[in-house]
Amino acid sequence: MGFFVSESENRSEHRADTGTGSGTEHTGRAAGGDRPGGRHRRTALVTGASSGIGEEFARRLAERGYDLVLVARRAERVEALAAELAERFAVGAAALPADLADPAGLAHVEERLRADGSGGDAPVDLLVNNAGHGGGGDFAGQDVAEVEAILDLNVRAQLRLARAVLPVQLARRRGGAGRVPPLGVINVSSMAGQLTAAPGSSVYAASKAFLTSWSQSVALEAAPHGVHVTAVLPGFVRTDMTRSLQDSGRLPEPAFVPKDRVVLEALRGWAAGRAVVVPGPVYGAADRLLRLVPRGLYRTVARRAGAKRVLRELD
Ligand SMILES: NC(=O)c1ccc[n+]([C@@H]2O[C@H](COP(=O)([O-])OP(=O)(O)OC[C@H]3O[C@@H](n4cnc5c(N)ncnc54)[C@H](OP(=O)(O)O)[C@@H]3O)[C@@H](O)[C@H]2O)c1
Repeated sequence: MGFFVSESENRSEHRADTGTGSGTEHTGRAAGGDRPGGRHRRTALVTGASSGIGEEFARRLAERGYDLVLVARRAERVEALAAELAERFAVGAAALPADLADPAGLAHVEERLRADGSGGDAPVDLLVNNAGHGGGGDFAGQDVAEVEAILDLNVRAQLRLARAVLPVQLARRRGGAGRVPPLGVINVSSMAGQLTAAPGSSVYAASKAFLTSWSQSVALEAAPHGVHVTAVLPGFVRTDMTRSLQDSGRLPEPAFVPKDRVVLEALRGWAAGRAVVVPGPVYGAADRLLRLVPRGLYRTVARRAGAKRVLRELD
């Protein structure tokens, strides 16, 4: 059996399950404790793990034997998920509730990501930078607080978290850590960032365009050192973020990519060292098509097709 820890509580008072062999070695450790002989258990930190795509990442990574650190604001959700996954998959799982748009919350998670294994916490092998903020409407009328929240979460937090973990991962490779299993970061971006223009969703789409561009540059910097950085660009996915769009019934079923497919393709692509993953054949084709369409033509079609109205409801 695994163990469950809430890092919102006292880190030194972790509850550990000691029901079977490997359970005992976890006693008193946060998720990602050492294996005998000093090797660390594979550990992933997933942001936005309380629902949607992030929760799916947590489930699939637990299935693959990763110890987990689960981050989101809703503490009760990440705590319940950590307890469930620890029990079900015999992994270590810690809830680390934090508001990533808040400097103190962000600093707390950065501190966990800087663990290099010399203290009580195992180093993080995979950061899933997934937490994101939607939102839309014409820019001139958009709530300023919402604009700030999108930038804080989709841009600032994602960069800061990657900046915290990458030096540790690069140092581990320099220190001789073998190439298997992979180390690195998955940045959950969006197909919205591939659009030439996204009226009604300008800030969200631009934040994702930034993320995709930045992620690809960092992927090239890290790849020679054996650290994988992958941007994942989902199209529409049935999650809380697209609830109103789902309820409107305006999009046909093929427009939605199942979230298990998003995660499966993301993990495969990351393990293979791909810089960009566009999950699902529909969006793979759309991505190729978008590259071919002249910008002027795109703008005309977008206007006529009423893309503005659909994109407004992305949140
Ligand atoms: N759904 C889609 O169609 C779609 C398409 C392309 C890309 N994406 C991207 O996929 C990612 C996940 O979104 P989702 O679709 O799974 O939506 P979701 O179910 O609403 O999940 C968003 C997650 O982010 C967390 N979060 C939000 N604000 C946060 C904050 N300030 N601090 C910490 N965590 C925060 C939420 O948890 P708490 O509320 O508990 O904090 C939640 O776990 C986002 O980056 C999104 O842009 C989604």
